[in-house]
Amino acid sequence: MDKAILFISGGLEAVPGILLAKKMGLHTVVSDINADAPGFAVADGRIYASTYDSEATVAAASRYHSEVRKLDGVMSVGADVPFTVATVAAVLGLPGIPIESARIASDKLAMKERFQSDGVPIPWFSPVESPQHLKEIILEHGYPMVLKPVDSRGARGVLRLQSGLDLGWAFLHSQANSPTGRVMIERFLSGPQISTESLVVDGRTFTPGFSDRNYEHLERFAPHIIENGGQIPGYLDERSRELIYELLPSTASSLGVRDGVIKGDIVVHEGRPYVIEVAPRLSGGYFCTHEIPLNTGVDLVGNAIRLALGLTVKPEDLLPSQNIPVAQRYWFPDTGRISRIGDHERFLNHPHVHLLEIRKKVGDRISKMDSHPDRAGVVITTGDTLDEAVAFAEHIVASVPIEVDPHS
Ligand SMILES: Nc1ncnc2c1ncn2[C@@H]1O[C@H](COP(=O)(O)OP(=O)(O)OP(=O)(O)O)[C@@H](O)[C@H]1O
Ligand SMILES: [Mg+2]
Repeated sequence: MDKAILFISGGLEAVPGILLAKKMGLHTVVSDINADAPGFAVADGRIYASTYDSEATVAAASRYHSEVRKLDGVMSVGADVPFTVATVAAVLGLPGIPIESARIASDKLAMKERFQSDGVPIPWFSPVESPQHLKEIILEHGYPMVLKPVDSRGARGVLRLQSGLDLGWAFLHSQANSPTGRVMIERFLSGPQISTESLVVDGRTFTPGFSDRNYEHLERFAPHIIENGGQIPGYLDERSRELIYELLPSTASSLGVRDGVIKGDIVVHEGRPYVIEVAPRLSGGYFCTHEIPLNTGVDLVGNAIRLALGLTVKPEDLLPSQNIPVAQRYWFPDTGRISRIGDHERFLNHPHVHLLEIRKKVGDRISKMDSHPDRAGVVITTGDTLDEAVAFAEHIVASVPIEVDPHS
């Protein structure tokens, strides 16, 4: 295919997407500010600009477009940069979602306000102006709550508020993780958490991605909310599953996404699904590049690339042709300096191991876990049954210890 596509961010999780685009015969360009971004090593062209700086990215992409090679599409894989992607698309006249949709989706408060006015079910929420305001809200509405930065990602600054927590500290911690210093609060809704990933094609929503999220460490890392992977097809009951499929199209139309990706964080509380957030971009954590194709046989990223290029995407290509159990688990070493890492390479060629990445090395410091990018390693397995896939992922994590010296 004689076309060129720009990937905003060349992070590690973007690499499989860039390689897939190359396999499709595309000219690939990566935009990133980090000269060592792994995506640069595999892409055909380079643009240096911060992925969060839409103006700088637009300027550099426009230069590439007019002076080096015409670009036909722009997208991201495993990077939360929909505003930059939408802005580049709008300025260069490429397919993309409206800038306004990306703006709302990049601001958790604006998104909740939009969902509220469109009748999409969400937890109760409010902006929080100060530590004093937070205390007043808790007095009036009680616990449990979630405090979060309006415009951050990777669970940074996301805190579960329960009695006993220092609310002054919580406000300042959450605020420090917001680039604009803005904080909001939501009612914490208990219940199973689900990740979804859909392609919206001409206003129709197809959802090949549907995974349980595993929050077994909620107490261990409290007040931080840290996910330990998940499993597909998951343990959710059929009725709740149907309700989520019914809900997703309304989130896409509320955000104004007629053609694009919709990645959902959903909680099923007392039998009803609520939207925690929806992002108009491909997921991270190898969900879109590994887990969904392994589980369903659907080439989600390939079809997202086609959509980004304005090419036809056939509905039948988005329907699962299989339902292979997939599990994902992470490594969470204790705090301290890493003294030894068990041998993980013996698992690499196992037919049921599809990704195994240890992201730390001996001598690295492990500090208190407070966001997703801190997770020390990840494994993705398949199995003949869901229990088997999960047990194997857990077995591998337990068999490859990351030992620390707590005192150094
Ligand atoms: N109101 C809520 N009720 C229950 N759980 C919540 C709520 N808000 C957030 N969470 C949990 O905390 C996680 C992180 O929150 P949120 O998605 O708002 O932050 P984020 O920085 O975008 O994190 P991530 O990158 O993991 O999506 C959610 O995926 C969910 O598991
Ligand atoms: Mg989120």
